[in-house]
Amino acid sequence: MTVRWRPVTFWMSWPTSVGGSLGPMTQTFTRMDESTADEWAVIGVESSKSQRHQGETVLTLLRMLSDRVDGFAVDQLTHCLQTATRAERAGADKEVVVASLCHDLGKVVSNPNHGAIAAEMLKPYVREDVYHMVKHHQDFQGKHYFHHFGGDPDAREKYSGEPWFALTAQFADDWDQVAFDPDYDTEPLEHFEPLVMELFASPRFF
Ligand SMILES: [Fe+2]
Repeated sequence: MTVRWRPVTFWMSWPTSVGGSLGPMTQTFTRMDESTADEWAVIGVESSKSQRHQGETVLTLLRMLSDRVDGFAVDQLTHCLQTATRAERAGADKEVVVASLCHDLGKVVSNPNHGAIAAEMLKPYVREDVYHMVKHHQDFQGKHYFHHFGGDPDAREKYSGEPWFALTAQFADDWDQVAFDPDYDTEPLEHFEPLVMELFASPRFF
């Protein structure tokens, strides 16, 4: 099914300031069917302020991955940092680098569907091919290990012909599946913080 990528028009239509006597409210509606346009204008301004710091939440979630090793040679934060480092050194653009950093972020919530969770977290901030790269990375990465579980190593082939197929294959083969090396010169999280703060400050799609 084709996903329609549309600009966040409702978000961008929110005012950046509120005129008149309105300022930050300590009291507002207690039920939406009693809300007013002025109250929503204030909420829009306050939500826009919060959005500028959204990246801090993402960084906190990434740090939580350092507690997960799960039998791998490196913890999950190091794996994500190494994946992003490899993508960046290969010349990937900002959206791909941040998506590479966050591709396993869904494991904080649920391992089996972590790709879909991470993809939805990234969706307002990245273009469509990058969203699909994260959402379907497990099927592509399976080429390298699904045979150990009786799975289909060619699971990626059902996406043959998709415009994001080559990017996702490059991500899985060149950056993700090789990012478990404790001796690799992996960039620290601080290296990626400015990119994370910049990307998550401005939702562009929904
Ligand atoms: Fe991964």
